Amino acid sequence: MGVMQIPGHTAQKPREVTLEEIRAVLGDCRRCELAQTRTKIVFGVGNPKARVLFVGEAPGRNEDLQGEPFVGRAGENLNGILGLAGLRREDVYIANVLKCRPPGNRNPKADEVLACSPFLREQIRSIWPDVIVTMGNPATHFVLKTEIGITKLRGRFHQMGHFVVMPTFHPAAALRNPAWQELLEADFHMLGEYLVRHPVESGAPVVAPAVEHSEALPRVEE
Ligand code: URA
Repeated sequence: MGVMQIPGHTAQKPREVTLEEIRAVLGDCRRCELAQTRTKIVFGVGNPKARVLFVGEAPGRNEDLQGEPFVGRAGENLNGILGLAGLRREDVYIANVLKCRPPGNRNPKADEVLACSPFLREQIRSIWPDVIVTMGNPATHFVLKTEIGITKLRGRFHQMGHFVVMPTFHPAAALRNPAWQELLEADFHMLGEYLVRHPVESGAPVVAPAVEHSEALPRVEE
């Protein structure tokens, strides 16, 4: 399986790899120790041609049992605010940096991210969304290749190669912090406005227009 390098790749979708093919390569994955404790691999769910890809951290307890991302309380929060962006769950694609649950929902380890993230990269390449919404620090750090914290990065769009990236708070973290929930909802409103301002024109490549309104703000270097 070829591995996508997000920074610096061309604006042209490079080749067709289906999500089914990526799932088949993942197989009954034993690439890291999480294989020993997981119940189900949580590959991802949604529209394979989604305009917007949401990326979380890792499956929690409910996701591990059901094999689907964001089906617990964080998922309820996400489902509830998608409408603020004019989106329905079936319109978008939802995935995680890790495909297996870390025991006790601990933070992902570096070697787990290293082992698992090629599959997220391939999912990004296959779906080729206009916008990637990274929810929380692990997803944001992986996609934007930065260690800057989410509170500094959220609230605006970033350019990463072809993709427009919108970092925001994780819906689970926002449930514990009303101020973050408010900001998470503000970000989803901003996403909705962005999608309306940049409609898909048939046949036209959608090339990273976020620079229009992020130029005044520091850009994350690729
Ligand atoms: N939190 C995540 O980051 N992903 C899920 O799928 C569920 C909770």
